[in-house]
Amino acid sequence: MDGTRKLHIKSYGCQMNVYDSQRMTDMMAREGFEETAAPETADLIVLNTCHIREKAAEKVYSELGRIRQLKQAAAREGRKLLVAVAGCVAQAEGKEIIRRAPVVDLVFGPQNYHRLPDLLAQAERGAKVVDTEFAVEDKFDHLAPASAAATRARGVSAFVTVQEGCDKFCTFCVVPYTRGAEVSRPVATIVAEVERLAGAGVREVTLIGQNVNAYHGEGPDGPSTLGRLLRRVAEIPGIARLRYTTSHPRDMEASLIAAHGDLPALMPQLHLPLQSGSDGILAQMHRRHSRAEYLDVIARLRKARPDIAFTSDFIVGFPGETEDDFRATLSIVDEVGYAGAFSFKYSPRPGTPAAERDDQVEEAVKVERLARLQAAIDRRQSIFNEQCVGRTFDVLFEKAGRRDGQLVGRSPYLQPVQAMARAALIGEVVAVTISEAGTNSLFGTLARPASSRHRAQLASLET
Ligand code: 5AD
Ligand code: SF4
Repeated sequence: MDGTRKLHIKSYGCQMNVYDSQRMTDMMAREGFEETAAPETADLIVLNTCHIREKAAEKVYSELGRIRQLKQAAAREGRKLLVAVAGCVAQAEGKEIIRRAPVVDLVFGPQNYHRLPDLLAQAERGAKVVDTEFAVEDKFDHLAPASAAATRARGVSAFVTVQEGCDKFCTFCVVPYTRGAEVSRPVATIVAEVERLAGAGVREVTLIGQNVNAYHGEGPDGPSTLGRLLRRVAEIPGIARLRYTTSHPRDMEASLIAAHGDLPALMPQLHLPLQSGSDGILAQMHRRHSRAEYLDVIARLRKARPDIAFTSDFIVGFPGETEDDFRATLSIVDEVGYAGAFSFKYSPRPGTPAAERDDQVEEAVKVERLARLQAAIDRRQSIFNEQCVGRTFDVLFEKAGRRDGQLVGRSPYLQPVQAMARAALIGEVVAVTISEAGTNSLFGTLARPASSRHRAQLASLET
C-alpha cells in the first residue's frame, strides 16, 4: 500500500468521542492514513457514534444512507471505500447495524478501537467484522500518541481522557452498558500525555471521563483522587488552565473541592449535572443524592472558590414526573443561578430500567416542559452574561475570530470572547475587558496586560 490512503472520521455526542476520534486518527496515521474532511475522497469512513438518546442513535442510520451512495460512487471509480461504525451505538447494537445497513464493513465498541488496524485488515479481505467484546487489555497501552504537528493543528486547548465508564447505573442511562465499568488511567501515563501536549503548545487541558470525579487511578503512593491528579497536572510547565468534566455530585470529595480554592489554574466553572430538582424523581433516577445534598455541594464549592459558576444537565419527562416535580426543577435553575445548562426530553433507552416503566410521560407534555425549562435557563444565562460586561477576564486566545483582525478565545467561564488582537496572541492568556454580551459570545478589548511579558508585547500587538 502507498502512504496516501485517506480517513474521514465523524464524531457524535460527547467529548469522550472527540478524544477517541483523535486517538483513532493518530493510530491510523501510523498505518499510512491521512485525515480528510471530505468524505467523498476517503478510503475509510468511521462514524464514532453516540447512543445516549434515540435521536443521537438515529442520526447514524441517516448518515449511513448518504455513505451508501459514496461507496457506490467510489466503486464506479474503481476504489474500495470501507465503512466503520464505532462508539456507543456500535457497542449497543453490534451486528444488528450490519443487518440494518449492509454498507457497513466494521463495527467496534469504545473499548476496542485500538484494534482498528487489525480489524481493518480483516475487512479488507472481504469479511464483515464485529468486535464489541470488552477488551481485557488496556487500550491506552496500544494507542499512538499524537504527533506534535497534529497536536498543534488541534489548537491550544486539549481533552485528555483520565477515566472511562460508569458504575452508577442511573435508571435512564445507557452509559454503564455501552462504556462498561469505571476504569481510571494511572497518574504517570496522564502526566506523560499532558507533558507531551504542553510541549506541542497546548495551554489548557480538560480532564474528561463519564464520571470523572470518581477517578481513582494508580499514583506514586497508591490510588489517587481527581483532586490529587489536578494538583499534579497543574505543576506541568506550560499548562495555564485546567478543567474537568463530567462530574457526579456524589463524588465531589473534600480534596477536589479544596483544589478549587488552592489551584489558580483550575478554572472557576463546573459542569455538575443535577437531572431533576425533585427529590422523588432523583430517587427514582437512582442518583443517590437529594436536592439539599446537591445544594450543599454547591455551597461548599462556592466557599472554596467564591467566583465559581455552575452549569448542569436536566431531563424533563422522566417516567412518572408530575407538574410539581417539574416545578422543582424549574425553581432550582434560579436558586443555583446557573451560567447555562443543557436540557433534554427523557428518551427511553433499550435495556435501562426506566424504559420498562408503564408511566411514561406523553410527548406533548415533554415538549411543553422542555420549552419552559429552556426559557428559564436562557434567562439565567443572559443574566450571567450581562453581569460580565465591564469586568476584565483572562482570556485564552484560540484562533482567528469572526471579523478581520479579531481573535476568539475563552473566558474562565468558557464563554467565547471576541476581541481585536493580532494572531501572535493565539495561545496566550490575556486580560480582556468585556464591553458587550451577545447571545453566544462576549465582545471585549485588550485590557492592561496580564503579565509583564504581555505588557511589553501589547503596544505592538493591539490592532
Ligand atoms: N434521555 C434523555 N437524556 C438523557 N441523558 C442521559 N440519558 C438520557 C436519556 N435516556 C442526558 C443526561 C446526561 C446527559 C449527558 O444526557 O442529562 O447528563
Ligand atoms: Fe449515566 Fe448516571 Fe453514569 Fe452519568 S452517572 S454516565 S447519567 S449512569
